[in-house]
Amino acid sequence: MQILDGKALALQIKEEIANEVRQLRAKGMRAPHLAAVIVGTDGASQTYVANKEKSSHEVGFTSSVYRMAESTTEEQLLETIQFLNNDEEIDGFIVQLPLPKHINEQKVINAISPDKDVDGFTPINIGRMVLGEEAFVPATPMGICTLLQRYGVPTSGQHCVVLGRSNIVGTPVANLLSRKGVDCTVTLCHSRTKNLPELTRQADILVAAIGKPKFVTSDMVKEGVTIIDVGIHRIPDDTKKNGYSIIGDVDHANVDKHCSAVTPVPGGVGPLTIVSLLQNTLKAYKKKL
Ligand code: GUN
Repeated sequence: MQILDGKALALQIKEEIANEVRQLRAKGMRAPHLAAVIVGTDGASQTYVANKEKSSHEVGFTSSVYRMAESTTEEQLLETIQFLNNDEEIDGFIVQLPLPKHINEQKVINAISPDKDVDGFTPINIGRMVLGEEAFVPATPMGICTLLQRYGVPTSGQHCVVLGRSNIVGTPVANLLSRKGVDCTVTLCHSRTKNLPELTRQADILVAAIGKPKFVTSDMVKEGVTIIDVGIHRIPDDTKKNGYSIIGDVDHANVDKHCSAVTPVPGGVGPLTIVSLLQNTLKAYKKKL
């Protein structure tokens, strides 16, 4: 069984990005600049944004974070987005999701300039991606494709079963994996899917992005499957200094022995998501050259 080590691969790709940034700086050019907007105090979101900031610095990017109160109005947030859209020193930015309930998430996403939408969440970038045009592709699906490609997991003609149809992961990854050049046959499963274990047992590649801890059990997989676990859940754990462990959507203790390859949690998809965001930011920067 092969571990698809996202942490090690992310380190390698970050070194490639850092080299490129060093070369740009040596020519006297400014560093790429990634900004993030975070509204409220959600613990997981704070962790994500802190990781993005840390990784930005590691590759030599400029990074800024706009922290806004939970009580921020939609109008105030839209004003901040206009400011970031117009700031020529910022190459790309993200608005961390989820947003507080009183803010219309789609309205906020729609206000982001497609040229700075390094999360690939705007309708323009999603449309371009589906059409196979040049686009910013959402970071987690892009990271999943990078993992499969760099680890040489065969995809052509393979049956990929995706669990979960979210706008951020399930729907875009189903699209990317079925594209020409990747060539998986994709089945997209969701909460209304019938006979789910019957479908998952047919998977050569199983992408678990359902948001339920240990959802995928050993009776749901066939021998030799490749599993991509997108889940990130904090569960209380007294044996840990910080009081919690991170687990995924897959019951790894029982499932991994049946896999030919598997992403661990943590250290699988997560680090590649951040790397994809950095790659998109570098791309946004280079487009302006
Ligand atoms: N919340 C969970 N994942 C993501 C992501 O990839 N981007 C943003 N902006 N918010 C998220």
